[in-house]
Amino acid sequence: MTFAIEMVGITKRFGTLVANKHISFGVRPGEIHALVGENGAGKTTLMNILFGMMPPDEGAIFVEGREVVMETPRTAIGLGLGMVHQHFKLVPSLTVAENIFLGMEITRGGLIDHKAQSDKARALSDEFGLGIDPDRRVSDLSVGIEQRVEILKVLARGARIVILDEPTAVLTPQESRDLFRTLRGFANAGMTVIFISHHLHEVLAVSDTVTVLRDGAVVGTLPTKELDEDRLVTMMVGREVNFDRRPRKTIEGRKVLELKEICARDNRGLPTLRDVSITVRAGEIVGIVGVDGNGQTELAEVVAGLRAPSYGEIAINGTAVAESSPGKMREAGLAHVPADRLVRGVDGSQQISANILMGRQATPPWVSAFGVVRWKQVRKLARDLIRRFDIRAQSEQTIVKTLSGGNIQKVVVAREFSQDAPIYLVDQPTRGVDIGAMEGIHDEIIAKRDEGAAILLISVQIDEVLALADRVLVMFAGRISGEVDPETATEDEIGYLMAGGSASRQAA
Ligand SMILES: Nc1ncnc2c1ncn2[C@@H]1O[C@H](COP(=O)(O)OP(=O)(O)OP(=O)(O)O)[C@@H](O)[C@H]1O
Ligand SMILES: [Mg+2]
Repeated sequence: MTFAIEMVGITKRFGTLVANKHISFGVRPGEIHALVGENGAGKTTLMNILFGMMPPDEGAIFVEGREVVMETPRTAIGLGLGMVHQHFKLVPSLTVAENIFLGMEITRGGLIDHKAQSDKARALSDEFGLGIDPDRRVSDLSVGIEQRVEILKVLARGARIVILDEPTAVLTPQESRDLFRTLRGFANAGMTVIFISHHLHEVLAVSDTVTVLRDGAVVGTLPTKELDEDRLVTMMVGREVNFDRRPRKTIEGRKVLELKEICARDNRGLPTLRDVSITVRAGEIVGIVGVDGNGQTELAEVVAGLRAPSYGEIAINGTAVAESSPGKMREAGLAHVPADRLVRGVDGSQQISANILMGRQATPPWVSAFGVVRWKQVRKLARDLIRRFDIRAQSEQTIVKTLSGGNIQKVVVAREFSQDAPIYLVDQPTRGVDIGAMEGIHDEIIAKRDEGAAILLISVQIDEVLALADRVLVMFAGRISGEVDPETATEDEIGYLMAGGSASRQAA
């Protein structure tokens, strides 16, 4: 049988670094093929080459048996490929339909025919059961919906071979299930799907075939039914990784971070937080779970000082913070791992060491009494953190945007967790990191708690919250809809609360 896609002997170098080493990779028509491997293994690079975003140094690409040269993404799209990138590329100020038809606008008498675009987008959404309103502005959408828009965009360009780079990194388990149902529908209709994921259980549940990369080379391609999680992990990292539930503590520490009856409005001016009260004590991890779009984003923004509450009070160590701002919250002791590493987490155009310095510019020993940065010390710190957080980079002078997605995440986590902050706001701390690194980040969070920090943890990964948090709060429709015991709660129970079920009915 001919492959839908075949890559043969692909090698890609960035300077002295070899990101892809003689990779041969074949995907059959109508299958769902998962591509897995540690952060920096070369997955995104391989898919970028396939999609014409960069040329390989060596090797050939065949589409449906015919050798092709992928000069640009346009070539790839013309051959029936579509790609949803690791970091979404939608234009927030445009509507869904405008984004979908960007660069291929439907026109009438020289003007964009908005109605035709909207109708066509809706028809396509209906055909694949995506449930998207084409007239909404992208800035108003949750990430789960944004992702579907990205998929719709790919479909509108006639893709038969769809590549998704970590499509579920930002989705809740329920949204992931919906997505995979859609992808299975594609495969059943004869389309071919390639996806990258660090969530091995979903790889095992939904793929037909798995290819494992390690250090830029293929370890193997196997039918999913011959694999289990242990085997996959061993192939990926070359050793076994342990998953332990962490011991929990009963906390009697003093109240460090208090949110009192917080109300807030979203970007459209609609109420989004309703009477939220949360107390985080010293030495405690309070976890927040909820379906994306139920107020967690705004909650994090309020705590970070990025969004002013319309009512209520934030207190730190018993003192109310008046007119909070990111600077004020930092001064008051907050360290913050933001959900979107590229928007608020790092300056991608700068070196790792410059990013590590951020937030430390005012503090010795990193800056001299005269305000001059002590780069030698900063660079040494960066080198230490690269080791401690297992950041796969050539040196501390590597420009951050050239790192793989998971390694950019590790830079943010490293900078924040190497400070002695009394309060941590960690939002999706392990987004896009591989399971080995995830264990490392979890260890850091636990260590901070044990040193007495107050930690507010927000994650769409319920299992992550259950593994780490001492107390778990569920958010629904802008409120705290219940509290569950992380020792005994099941994902189903939590899912019920997340969908708006009430805790009292749960008890009954
Ligand atoms: N534009 C670039 N310039 C220099 N190095 C790069 C560039 N793009 C990728 N690399 C390097 O190539 C290697 C592979 O990166 P890639 O993004 O393919 O990894 P990945 O498997 O997708 O990882 P992740 O799971 O973290 O997303 C990394 O060491 C990365 O730093
Ligand atoms: Mg990647």
